[in-house]
Amino acid sequence: MALEELKAKVKGLLSRRRWDHTLRVVEMSLEMVASLQLEIEPSKVETAALLHDCAKDLPLGEQLKKAGHFGIVLTSSDLLCPSTLHSRVGAGMAQHEFGIRDADILQAIALHTTGGPRMSPLAKIIFVADYIEPGRSFPGLEKVRSLAKKELNGAVLACMEQTLRYLLQRGDIIHPRMIAARNYILATENHTLL
Ligand SMILES: [Fe+2]
Ligand SMILES: [Fe+2]
Repeated sequence: MALEELKAKVKGLLSRRRWDHTLRVVEMSLEMVASLQLEIEPSKVETAALLHDCAKDLPLGEQLKKAGHFGIVLTSSDLLCPSTLHSRVGAGMAQHEFGIRDADILQAIALHTTGGPRMSPLAKIIFVADYIEPGRSFPGLEKVRSLAKKELNGAVLACMEQTLRYLLQRGDIIHPRMIAARNYILATENHTLL
């Protein structure tokens, strides 16, 4: 599917507000790839960013139906954290409804809410860009934005730490995939501890 066709199809699935957010994630992802001097094909970055929330505006029942249809085995944690479901279902839609075959793109969509072990650089870019795009505003964001220009793992960890703190403060359930993702980065890669 050509990029223009893909764009039109995603736009049709999203509310105006979500589509605007999606375009900002595209811009932010491309900016991050440039400032971090990563060698990732811009078309891959754009495709992953465009599709990352393609399932988000579907009612939960529809998301569950699609998960079953695509053979996605949901974990109990996926079900306990329904706001993360759209990432795995979105990856399924990208594969089966948009014909995306690139494993990095599919992983980036699937992990954009929680992260996960062995995230590719593209998955890290989409994860952080979704969190820091200019439409977002909450305390501590500036720190993550400046890290995102120079240290990708540090930026991912900072996003996760803020999310985890927020969930703890609210007494909310934490998806263990985020803990696993954080442990993986801490254990295996160079990073800036915050
Ligand atoms: Fe999302
Ligand atoms: Fe998003």
